[in-house]
Amino acid sequence: MKNIPNNAPREHLIFALDVAGEIEEALAWVERLRDHVGMFKVGKESFAGYGPEIVREIRARGGKVFLDLKFHDIPHTVARAAEASVRMGVSMFNVHALGGEKMMAEAVSAAVRAARAADSAVPIVLAVTVLTSLGDDDLKGFGFQCSAGELTLHLAKMAKNAGIHGVVASARDVSAVREVCGRDFVIVTPGIRSATDIPGDDQKRTLTPADAIGRGADYLVVGRPILLAQDPVHAADDMAGDIAAGLLLRQ
Ligand code: C5P
Repeated sequence: MKNIPNNAPREHLIFALDVAGEIEEALAWVERLRDHVGMFKVGKESFAGYGPEIVREIRARGGKVFLDLKFHDIPHTVARAAEASVRMGVSMFNVHALGGEKMMAEAVSAAVRAARAADSAVPIVLAVTVLTSLGDDDLKGFGFQCSAGELTLHLAKMAKNAGIHGVVASARDVSAVREVCGRDFVIVTPGIRSATDIPGDDQKRTLTPADAIGRGADYLVVGRPILLAQDPVHAADDMAGDIAAGLLLRQ
């Protein structure tokens, strides 16, 4: 299953709706950007603040939603959360690969069953491998004998075996995951920056949209380069233009 956007370049662009003010503020972003990006990412910050209403309101405005709640629990609980996500009508959601192969498999099966019951499309189910905030030393502290890069690839393969549709992979891991998991595996990549730097940026290993797409990413998650731009619509359109250049590199 690969639900890859291949029409407009902007379909590859996911805007991280990382805002915490009144819900009207979040929805103003949706209205401003809905014709310039392919999807809106609702993460822990906005879901904790607004609840399922934010998903309903984005969909009511014609937007698609990536629900980035990174479920990590016992298989039964994650399966129920997957069903609830499908009932909200999200296009994509994610779980933690470290929840195990059984948990991932049950999340996908539950999503498929819930989509059938609702007569809706099956969302893309992603796994998060190793948080990019964790380095080799952190993993050693947990008792892992491998590097973060090795664990990322191992977990990506495990996710694929469990029937998961793809992973969230940092810019530095895109090529390796693509090589190991094949063409049909979905890769979603944050840490995207255009040529214009953001002051005080905390993203260390970044790629431009063209680089990330050229290396094999399917969807790019972009927050602050659009959120903090003087002209956010222009910034999103610039990113889409760069994505188009990256798509040409892949042919
Ligand atoms: O503002 P920026 O473009 O850095 O936003 C990136 C989005 O992707 C944020 O919502 C952040 O939580 C998410 N993310 C990330 N790095 C990861 C995983 C997710 O920046 N490794």
